[in-house]
Order: sequence, then C-alpha cells, then structure tokens
Amino acid sequence: MATIYSRPEEYDLEHGSGEEDIDFYRRLVQRLDAHDIVELGCGSGRITQPLAALAERLDLRVTGVDLSEEMLGQARAKIEELPAGCRSRVQLLQGDIRNYAVPAPVDLIVVPCSTLAHVLELEDQLAVWTRARANLKPGGRFVVDLSMPNLQAYADSMASPPRALVELDIDQETDDGAHRLIRYKTTRYEAHRQRAHVHFLYDRFEVTDRDEQARRYVSDFESHVFFPRELQLLFLHTGFAVESCYGGYRFEKLSSTSRALVMVGRV
Ligand SMILES: C[S@@+](CC[C@H](N)C(=O)[O-])C[C@H]1O[C@@H](n2cnc3c(N)ncnc32)[C@H](O)[C@@H]1O
Repeated sequence: MATIYSRPEEYDLEHGSGEEDIDFYRRLVQRLDAHDIVELGCGSGRITQPLAALAERLDLRVTGVDLSEEMLGQARAKIEELPAGCRSRVQLLQGDIRNYAVPAPVDLIVVPCSTLAHVLELEDQLAVWTRARANLKPGGRFVVDLSMPNLQAYADSMASPPRALVELDIDQETDDGAHRLIRYKTTRYEAHRQRAHVHFLYDRFEVTDRDEQARRYVSDFESHVFFPRELQLLFLHTGFAVESCYGGYRFEKLSSTSRALVMVGRV
C-alpha cells in the first residue's frame, strides 16, 4: 500500500508551513556554527528548503538524502525557486540513509521528523549511526529528532480485548481555503518489539463553489519506538559522545512531559 510519501503535496499540507522544528534547525546550524550539513530523509524539503534559503548568507552547503523519488521531486521544485546563490549550495541525493556517501566529511548530520522510526532493525539502526560517524569531521555532530514514546496511546492499544482508539490528529487547510486535509490515526503497539503499527486515514476535501468533494485514503506505517536511554547507547556504541538532549524545539531540557526527543551526539 502506498504511503503519504507518494503524495508529497499532501505531505506538505499535512505539516503546514509554520512548524516550530523548522526554526529549531535554523537556529541549530548557527548555534553549532555548522557549514557543511546533511539532512537524512530530507523528503519534500520541508526543512531543507528553509536551511537552503540561509545558505548564501551563512555560508552553508546543504545535502539532502532520501529514498523517495516523489518526495525528492517536491524538494527539487522548492529549491529551484531559491536565488541562484542559495540554489547552487544545495545537493539532493536519492539514497538510503544506511549507506549513502558524501564527497567530503561534514560538520552536521540531522535526521528530523522521526525519520529514524522507519529504521526498524537494530543492525540497520547501527548502520545509520556508523555511516553518520564516518561522514562527519572530527568534532562534527549527529542530531537525531524523534517523538517521545506515547505511552498513553500504547497502553490503550494493549487493552484486553484489544481496542484501537481513533485520534483526529491533524486538520489543515491550504492558504486559499480550497483544500482541507484531515488525518485520523490509530496505533497498535507490540511492547516486546518496541514496534508501533500506525494506520493513518486521510480525508482530503476539495472545496468548490458548489460543494465539497472528499477523497479518502490510508497510509500505513510500522515504526520503531525509541526510548531515550536506547538512543544514548546507540551514540556511545558507535563512537559518539552525547553532547545534549532536548525535549522540544525551543532547546528545552528533556522531561517526563516532553513530546519531542532530540539528541545531539558529537564525534
Ligand atoms: C517523516 S519524513 C521526513 C521528511 C523531512 N525530513 C521533514 O522533516 O519533513 C521521512 C522521510 O524519510 C524517507 N526515508 C525513510 N526511510 C529511508 C531510508 N532508509 N533512506 C532514505 N530515506 C528514507 C522517506 O522517504 C521520507 O521522505
């Protein structure tokens, strides 16, 4: 079954334009004084494009890596709209985050938006960390950005008899009001494998003069649920020191109520 990644325009509509993680990455590259940057799982360029827009002013070179041709196509279209001085500093590569290569070591590798949750097996996770380590300069950083485990949702899904609550978690409209996307979500959790089976159900409404037409589709994901200590161990095992850990996109400390889990490893 197709995932939302084969519908990049809807992926962008789902995420809207003002998400706070975008600003986090803008500030991060400046805080870390990073100039050569790789984004793993760059997708539709939601983060890549705002970084690329700063490339000329901050002397950045930005490389995005993704498997999906459709998502990369959307990213390319966004980069094309930037001034030449920024555009020329961006490279988009179709590849796997477990085994991509960059021409020269970089200062910063980031994996935003829970992309790593798609990497299910331990050996593949180790490959991602090891590759990042190999592609970084001495002192370079690897920044992993995931959601904190949603124990409440997992507990519901483990009730007996099993039940999967349907959560309406996204409701976005295009700026012109012509399209509206509503996303519903169910989660089933397998505790022994730290595996979440997430079904997204989308209703896309097209608003015309006369009526609203709806199109419905599903997008299923299996995702690995990372816990903070596990991330720490992945960094330590692959030769990084853990430099910082944030629980949100304003650089706040991780706490028991954090929804985000952002860990920074340093070579
Ligand atoms: C949640 S999206 C994140 C996109 C973008 N970074 C953002 O913040 O909007 C995850 C992306 O990771 C890509 N992806 C998943 N597994 C991958 C892999 N093994 N190698 C490369 N890309 C992968 C998907 O194609 C998708 O574009």
